[in-house]
Amino acid sequence: MAKPKTVYYCSNCGNQSSKWLGKCPACGEWNTFVEEVIVKADKRKSGIAAKKTLSKPTPVHKIVTDEEIRIDTRNGELNRVLGGGLVTGSVVLVGGEPGIGKSTLLLQVSMNLKGLRTLYISGEESYRQIKMRADRLKLENPEVYILNETFTGNIFAQIEAVEPNLIIIDSIQTLYTENIDSSPGSISQIRETAGELQRYAKTSNIPVILIGHITKEGNLAGPKVLEHMVDTVLQFEGDRHYGFRILRSVKNRFGSTSELGIFEMQSGGLREVSNPSEILLSQRDEEASGVAIAAMVEGQRPMLIETQALVGTAAFGTPQRSATGYDTRRLNMLLAVLEKRSGFKLSSKDVFMNIAGGIRVDDPAIDLALVAAIISSAEDIYISSNICFAGEVGLSGEIRAVSRIESRISEAEKLGFEKIILSKYSIKGIDKRNFKIDIIPVSKIADLPELLV
Ligand code: TYD
Ligand code: MG
Repeated sequence: MAKPKTVYYCSNCGNQSSKWLGKCPACGEWNTFVEEVIVKADKRKSGIAAKKTLSKPTPVHKIVTDEEIRIDTRNGELNRVLGGGLVTGSVVLVGGEPGIGKSTLLLQVSMNLKGLRTLYISGEESYRQIKMRADRLKLENPEVYILNETFTGNIFAQIEAVEPNLIIIDSIQTLYTENIDSSPGSISQIRETAGELQRYAKTSNIPVILIGHITKEGNLAGPKVLEHMVDTVLQFEGDRHYGFRILRSVKNRFGSTSELGIFEMQSGGLREVSNPSEILLSQRDEEASGVAIAAMVEGQRPMLIETQALVGTAAFGTPQRSATGYDTRRLNMLLAVLEKRSGFKLSSKDVFMNIAGGIRVDDPAIDLALVAAIISSAEDIYISSNICFAGEVGLSGEIRAVSRIESRISEAEKLGFEKIILSKYSIKGIDKRNFKIDIIPVSKIADLPELLV
């Protein structure tokens, strides 16, 4: 018998090598190469993998572009992250840590898709377990078919039999194809089975949603190759201790990647949170210092988020700086700017900061609220809960303009805030008479403390 052919793959980026390497030359990670048995060259000829379509070069002006057809998933938050619904023939990867709620989300979505037939293929849970979950969600839909199968050959046969409008794979790591000898979950199997499904989606125009596990480093489904193959990558994340879950688009060929979907895990499934400010503003009865509200925009959606800071005297030589939901290096930068430009002595202080709700923020407009929260904690001044902030802080202590300022102002007004503090450069072109909320411009960080009291 011929010796099986083996190759080595980097489990981080999917780079291939004929021998084991300590450091991956492609992604620079150490100790990531794993050995895998591959190819049964003769078998490759069979099955969907070998199907060839004849494509011809076409002049670009002759390419017909009809609007992509989108399926309304009946889930506002999911539609938003997908860019307005699920595009037919697309492949979507939903990644997340175990237990975060991926299976729940997709079962719930398929049960709500009345009038469309879904084939939910589970390699992880038994029929009974899935039925129990469906009962828990209190949803019924005779058009949802469950299949307990991990071999792609059988899966394609069942797809032909059921003729679904949507295919869900839970999870891609459990599938295997006979074209490859290595075990399910290995990089070459993931790559090959995802490839078969992707080709199937493109030829049949049926959308496929793949569920993928996250590695301990937090990478989606291990190899980056999978991210390249699919059209859309969504990440489902959240802190297990909070009920909130965030669906974030990491890659999207059919929409923006800055959109967020917000859910709350309840005993009967995931609730869509269409007004995020309701959860991101924590309930406060007492007048506490160190809290400031930021008027943010994530994607197209404005939301108000509570930022908190705690400034204390460092007990040991080196002060601690820690940030949850925000970049620690950026926090250090803000502290340096505060020290240099407005004379706050923070170098010997511990500074902790936190963003309410366990959410992670990229919008630079949060800077101004954070600086306000830090000043509030350091000076022990209470910032009234009807003030909010929107502005980016520059290295020279200037407050810079941020995008979509009008939607931030309107959202703050809608939520009953009475004052919004923002960059002087933001208010050019805004007609203050359109707003009832008091708009207060500030040009540099040194002017901020007097506005807080
Ligand atoms: P699950 O969808 O199995 O996670 P994943 O597929 O990402 O591994 O979700 C499991 C968690 O969700 C589990 O801890 C129970 C909880 N849950 C609820 O709180 N409410 C519900 O209605 C359901 C179905 C699950
Ligand atoms: Mg699951």
